[in-house]
Amino acid sequence: MLTIEALEAGYGQSRVLFGLSMVARAGEVVSLIGRNGMGKTTTVRAIMGMTRPTGGRISFGDHPLAGLAPHAIARLGLGLVPEGRRIFPSLTVEENLVATARTDTRNSNAWTLERVVALFPRLGERRRQSARTLSGGEQQMLAIGRALMTNPRLLILDEATEGLAPLIRAEIWRCLHQLKQAGQTIVVIDKNLGEMAALVDRHHIVEKGRVVWSGTPTELDSQANLAKRYLGI
Ligand SMILES: Nc1ncnc2c1ncn2[C@@H]1O[C@H](COP(=O)(O)OP(=O)(O)O)[C@@H](O)[C@H]1O
Ligand SMILES: [Mg+2]
Repeated sequence: MLTIEALEAGYGQSRVLFGLSMVARAGEVVSLIGRNGMGKTTTVRAIMGMTRPTGGRISFGDHPLAGLAPHAIARLGLGLVPEGRRIFPSLTVEENLVATARTDTRNSNAWTLERVVALFPRLGERRRQSARTLSGGEQQMLAIGRALMTNPRLLILDEATEGLAPLIRAEIWRCLHQLKQAGQTIVVIDKNLGEMAALVDRHHIVEKGRVVWSGTPTELDSQANLAKRYLGI
């Protein structure tokens, strides 16, 4: 579904990605893991058209994404829960959810306001409140709900559980398991290897702008030197 080949990108003169390659097939949950500053968010920005690659190829299904604007990429069916959960603070919860919604008439299982509220009941209780009154965890649920309302074929989550209380984290992992069971293709970036072990089909370790290893959580577990060398644990 998503294929990245030899991606190069950076900011101004500073190069961040040096030939990064990865694949997410339909129905798979794959990760990008690795220490801070290795290029995970930059990869996401390149996929979404927010950072212009200087080399390599990204394709989504049959569509090359080169040169497409972010809104055009989103419209192809890529949904992002960005790092730092950027919701619209002055809009209500409901307004946030419908603001970028995209109905999917081909799919009777499409995400609607009702389904998102069923997934995250707290959002239903706070439907008419302005988003700025939500806790950090509730804002994160809102960011996930908003991405789902675009009915993405591929959902990308960049550090979605970062800085949240354990109970809220657990709720987000539960949500991701439900999405996986429903066949949602997901790219997840997170630091919690323990939680990801049960969710992810394939990890990609990112080191200095390249994928230096990929394999199943079981394979990662069996090679302690990998985690030590690339993840600092
Ligand atoms: N907007 C930016 N301008 C300049 N440099 C940036 C910007 N965003 C990130 N970087 C740099 O790019 C490198 C990779 O960052 P990033 O992709 O955010 O890593 P990760 O998500 O793996 O922590 C880091 O050295 C970071 O300082
Ligand atoms: Mg990041």
